[in-house]
This record gives sequence, structure tokens and C-alpha cells, in this order.
Amino acid sequence: MKPMSGAEKGKLWGGRFTKAPDPVFDRFSASLRWDVRLLAYDLLIDRAQTKALKACGVLNAREASRLISAIDRIDRDRRAGRLVIDPSAEDVHTLVQNELSRVCGPLADKIHTGRSRNDLVSQSSRLYCKEQAGALYGALTQLMTVIVAAAERYRNVLLPGMTHLQNAQVLHLSHILLSYVEMIDRSREQYVTAVEYADVCVLGSGALAGTTFAIDQRLIARELKLSRVTTNSYDVSGDRDHVLQLVYACALTGTHLSRIAEDLMIGQTRPYGIYDIDASLCTGSSMMPQKKNADSAELIRGASGVLQAQLAGVLSVLKGLPTSYNRDLQWDKSFLFTAVETARDVVEVMTRIFATLRVREERAARLLDDESLYATDLADLLVRKGVPFKDAHRKVGRMVLEAESLGCALSALPAAVTRQIAPEIKPGEMAALFGPERSVRLKRTAGSTHPDRVRREIDRWKQQLRRTSGRV
Ligand code: ARG
Repeated sequence: MKPMSGAEKGKLWGGRFTKAPDPVFDRFSASLRWDVRLLAYDLLIDRAQTKALKACGVLNAREASRLISAIDRIDRDRRAGRLVIDPSAEDVHTLVQNELSRVCGPLADKIHTGRSRNDLVSQSSRLYCKEQAGALYGALTQLMTVIVAAAERYRNVLLPGMTHLQNAQVLHLSHILLSYVEMIDRSREQYVTAVEYADVCVLGSGALAGTTFAIDQRLIARELKLSRVTTNSYDVSGDRDHVLQLVYACALTGTHLSRIAEDLMIGQTRPYGIYDIDASLCTGSSMMPQKKNADSAELIRGASGVLQAQLAGVLSVLKGLPTSYNRDLQWDKSFLFTAVETARDVVEVMTRIFATLRVREERAARLLDDESLYATDLADLLVRKGVPFKDAHRKVGRMVLEAESLGCALSALPAAVTRQIAPEIKPGEMAALFGPERSVRLKRTAGSTHPDRVRREIDRWKQQLRRTSGRV
């Protein structure tokens, strides 16, 4: 046999090479600097693989137990932060293989029987995605719980709801807060799908065709707590939809939270000022001593751009790629890790913002001075008196215009003007109609801002969050 070439040393694939890799290419090809995050998952896989190899007779009992002890030892060192990571390893899979060789010698060479890095990386990234999707699901549940608590705390606060950033109609602040919960719940749902995509045993697929060894995939699935076994080995090696789905979930979370962050920032601008974001989540200015800026919310808004970029990254790596494994796929993980780590930070910081958010109720009350908030209620009153809605809309529109040009509130329009535009309105009727509590009580539909509905929604969410918290 020819002696081991320089190319073979430390690589999992060197046999047919006589030349060592070009050093610049070698560095370019290496992914350890990011995929080292898969170390714990690779070790879990190696434990399961060892048991499967024993079950099909590739390893005898003694060999299997020596390998398991070696894996346990590496894992103990990893947990204790004692494991010295050899930076020259090509990727995390090579690192683990080399570590195993260091700890238990030539026996380690048997562990890669019936598998390829193609199914290994596919499995390892699935375990990572499953765990992280579950953790993000939990973090979002926590965020939703904190927002529902704020909705409950401020359940009596009314304020102008806006469209186009202009005053529109009176709302319960809780109604707005619960709309955030609805939105976040849609993000949260994406993590359930992410878990589903990841929750499959793909080992035994080998490079693309399966393996000649009778690897018990159900045994591996049980060991790794996975609910099913793949039905197509060729799909496994090139499929990264679990990565795509999780990164999409992160991107959607980012987009949702950035919209909420924007609401918070508008809500705390000085002239408006209904929100007081806790000082521990703000920073100051190096020049202007008075400044207290809501940087936490701004960074969340900005992070949504980072998260979207990761999604675009994974999509572009996959676009037009031939099916099955191609080395391009290695890039997916740098997007995946950035997305997951950024999303985790974003959700945690937002949770802290809501946990400490104070609402300046007196400012909210002052903002309700604007009677144009009742214009729609007034048009509805006219409809109740038999005026077709389009007519009613026009009449109230004219009243608003008159009030604007006279510089007075709607209810202070001269009686003659009101009588001329809308003779259906009886004197005093407007004043009786106008009022924030009245306005919200007039709303009758499901999902409206009627106080009884809002109250019920707070309770429903409290129950639902308790029920769904451990779902994945
Ligand atoms: N580091 C590689 C990746 O992340 C592992 C798989 C390598 N497979 C191969 N056939 N070269 O994709």
C-alpha cells in the first residue's frame, strides 16, 4: 500500500489524492469557524450511529462501548469548555472524527461506516434546527405572554387608533397590544413547521443512494428523538428546506417585530409620548446630554434587515442548484446561524421592552381631544336615521370641513350649519354621541374594540398561551 500522502492527513477524503490542497483553497473550503456550532449534535449522532453499527454487526460490543466512552469523554470536555478545537480541521465532522481517533485510535475509523458527510450534515443541521425552532417558539410564547400582561395592565386605556399615521377612531390600547399577539402568533406558527421539517431521521441515506449496511434507522430515530424516517435518500443529501423554513420563520419574526418596534418608537416620540421605554433599554448621546433614545427598538427594526438578508442568502444558494448534494450547500449554515442568533436576541430584547413598558395614561387621554375620531360614529348615526351611508359620509365630511375652516370642534359647529348640512341630527345628539367610552361601546362585531370583546380576548390569549407553551 502506498504511504499516506500529505493530502490524506486530517481529511476524510484524501485517498485518491497525491497532492495536498492549495493553502488558499484549503482555507476557503473550511467551514469549521461557523459549523463548530453543530458539535454537540454531531456527538449525539455519533452515539446513535455507534448503537446502530453494533446492532447490524459492524461493531462488536467491546468496540461499541469503547467508542461510546470516547464520545462521552469528548462531550464532557466540550461541556466543560476544555475541548481544544483544532482550527485546521476542515469542518465540524472532520474535527469530531479526528478527536475520536485521538481518543480511541484506529477503532474511530469504523464510525463513518455506511454514512457520508452528506447525510451527516443533513442530520446534524436538522437536529440544530429542531432545537432552535423549539427554543424560538418558546421565546415567542414568552414575548406574547408579556404583551398580554401589558394588555391586561392597561386594559382601561383608550387612545386614538391611527391609519396612515393619522388619527382614525378610538381604540383600547389593549386592542392594539393584542393585535401584536395575533401577528406574533403567525410567526410562531412558522417554527412549528420548521420543527416538522427537521424532525426526521436521514441517516442511512449515505451520500445519495442509501447504504449496503442494515442500519436500523428507527433505532437512530428513537435515539435522536425524531418522529419519522426519510423516504428518499437522494432528496436528503440536497434538501435544505428545514434551513430555509427556519430562516424564513426568523425573517418573518424580524419583520413583525420591526413593525411593532416602529409603533413603539412613534409612541414614545416627545409630542406624542404615550410610551415610556425603560431607561435600561435606551442609550444617550455623546454630545446632547438630554437624550434618551430608544435604541433597543431601533436595533430590532434594523435587525429585520439582517434577518431578511439571511433568507435571501439561503434562497439564492438553493436557486438553480442541481438536486442532491453540491458543495454550495455549505454556505447555508452561515445564514442559518446568523438568522437564529439574531432572531433570539431580537425576541429577548423585545420581551424586555414590553415587560418594563410604562404607558402615560394622561397623555393618551389628552390625545382623545380630537373629535374627528367620532366622524365615523356620526355617519353611522345618520344611517340609523335612514340616510344611505354614502350620503351620510358626504354630510359628515362637509361638517368636518366646516369645523376645520371655522377652527372649532365638530360638536361646536353653529347649529345653523349642522341643520343645513344634516337636518336629521337633533340638537345635543352629537355631544351625547361623542366620547371615547361611548365610541368603543358602539362597536359590535367579533374582533372589534368593544371593551367586553377585548376583555374576553385577553382571557382567551391567556388560556391559549398556557395551552400552547409546550407545543414544540
Ligand atoms: N462541510 C460540508 C457542508 O457543510 C460537509 C459536507 C461535505 N460533503 C462533501 N461531499 N464534500 O456541506
